[in-house]
Amino acid sequence: MKQNIINARVTFRSSPIHVLERFTIKDLEVAYERFKRHSGLDECVIIQTCNRIELFGKSKYQDIEKIKKTWASLTGLDEETFKENLEIVENHEAFHHLLKLTSGLDSMVVGEEQILGQIKNSITAARNIKASGKHLNTLFDKAIRIGTRIRNTSGIGRGGISVGSMAVKLAEENIDELKFKRILLIGTGEVSTLVAKSLQRRGYDFAVTSRTLDRSKMFCETMGGSPIKFEEVLSGFENYDILFVATTAPYFLVTYERITNAMKENKKGMMILDLSNPRTVDEKVATIGGVKLMNLDQIAEMVEKNMNARLNKVKTVENIINEEVLVLEASMKRLDAEPLVKGVFKDIDSLRVKELQKALQMLDEKDEKKIKIIEELTKAVVESIVSTPMNNIRKASEQGDPDVIEMASKLFDYKKNTLD
Ligand SMILES: NC(=O)c1ccc[n+]([C@@H]2O[C@H](COP(=O)([O-])OP(=O)(O)OC[C@H]3O[C@@H](n4cnc5c(N)ncnc54)[C@H](OP(=O)(O)O)[C@@H]3O)[C@@H](O)[C@H]2O)c1
Repeated sequence: MKQNIINARVTFRSSPIHVLERFTIKDLEVAYERFKRHSGLDECVIIQTCNRIELFGKSKYQDIEKIKKTWASLTGLDEETFKENLEIVENHEAFHHLLKLTSGLDSMVVGEEQILGQIKNSITAARNIKASGKHLNTLFDKAIRIGTRIRNTSGIGRGGISVGSMAVKLAEENIDELKFKRILLIGTGEVSTLVAKSLQRRGYDFAVTSRTLDRSKMFCETMGGSPIKFEEVLSGFENYDILFVATTAPYFLVTYERITNAMKENKKGMMILDLSNPRTVDEKVATIGGVKLMNLDQIAEMVEKNMNARLNKVKTVENIINEEVLVLEASMKRLDAEPLVKGVFKDIDSLRVKELQKALQMLDEKDEKKIKIIEELTKAVVESIVSTPMNNIRKASEQGDPDVIEMASKLFDYKKNTLD
């Protein structure tokens, strides 16, 4: 019987940021353990980024309800929330979706590079703790290779659009004369780098802060901007007109109280762009007079407006994916036949070796050259008899015909579980 690959996901496409962040899984090791123990999955990989929380699983008999229950127990969410936000696909659609992910087609900023790194990290982490196995490792390795090739040949990522550049554009569209505003960037990670690049390219001065001053200094040496002490910032938000916040802090750094205090001094107003997921700016700050708060939802809208240049490439990439997914699907299906094929080859080969030894003993042959010829003869005979049925089993498996594997297991008296 064939294996099923399932993909269950909550993404920015169907859920706004305040909903999406509630599906975030805090302890991945615990999650892997529970998904495998309680959801009937033999393998799983979790991908978590600012725009998506996705589970890929492999099982013989999966139970969607159990997957939802486990996810709910990990996040404290009720089942109703899953009904509205969870998308579930299997096999062909799951492969297709993974290729869209690796090629950047499903990203908020189509073609962006970050997702590929995030997927590589996810499969490495799952592999290291043995949450994934032969099926998902093969699937992800292949999908990453295909995605990279698609990016390189299509040029889908060219053109300088990024979350960072869209955030800066959003600020420009909402604030007059950005050049004369005091801009602060909180965070020195990947997203902050994209924001800094864009600010730098457009000639804006900006300050940078992160928990350690040394890290901010190093960041500014390559990305521009002036490093500022973290504590100074937290107690002095009134010194800035625009905040870009991109951290992975698990709590609000920009709190209601801090901004209320800042706004007592800052009469000109403040714009805050929270690029984090989970958010690190308390949404209540939006209720303070003079404060404009924007987050990844608005950036997604901005991206949509700016994607025209890439849209004609999207069609090309979609066509490539539609072709590649068939090849990927065939090689995944072939995996179902591999244990049987390998097992039968091994059994027959040990028979061959046993009979060969017997014959050589009976012949009392000592001449190495003759022994070699006889040995090669036995190998050639076995190979020519076995390879055609084995290739046919592989082909049947590729074509999604699990009955042939079952039948072949019986014919070859292959006892092991051919589905592992
Ligand atoms: N990567 C993407 O494609 C992408 C796109 C859109 C949005 N996002 C979101 O943007 C945020 C940042 O992502 P990233 O990829 O830039 O992450 P990253 O490269 O890991 O950088 C994380 C940053 O957060 C800071 N940080 C962590 N814990 C903190 C705390 N308790 N207090 C203050 N600062 C803290 C780190 O500062 P230290 O140096 O002090 O550790 C670092 O500067 C995330 O919420 C992510 O979900 C990411």
